[in-house]
Amino acid sequence: MTFVVLENCIRCKFTDCVEVCPVDCFHEGPNFLVIDPDECIDCSLCEPECPAEAIVPEDEVPEGQEHMLELNAELSQQWPVITRRKDPLPDAEEWNGKPDKLKHLER
Ligand code: SF4
Ligand code: F3S
Repeated sequence: MTFVVLENCIRCKFTDCVEVCPVDCFHEGPNFLVIDPDECIDCSLCEPECPAEAIVPEDEVPEGQEHMLELNAELSQQWPVITRRKDPLPDAEEWNGKPDKLKHLER
């Protein structure tokens, strides 16, 4: 089983999640983070760290966001690993909770 980053991370990217991951499985894109499903050890440490509540176990992915599983797998093969927290995107608070953020994903 793996944990999955959901759409609400897009345009927020708080990065609190990366500090706690014992196996460094977060990968960073321009405005979104993903989890490498082959590296995640299902420890659940990252889930409560995200201020955007954007991380869930794969068996709790909400209806309508099933595509995020594949997207995490795909982008984690393309983006570099991130292990240190950094400042969130400048308007992260404003974007937290906005619907339909997938169209804002930058690759
Ligand atoms: Fe990393 Fe654990 Fe979160 Fe998986 S569940 S991404 S291993 S912190
Ligand atoms: Fe994204 Fe939440 Fe991590 S917004 S960068 S999954 S702390």
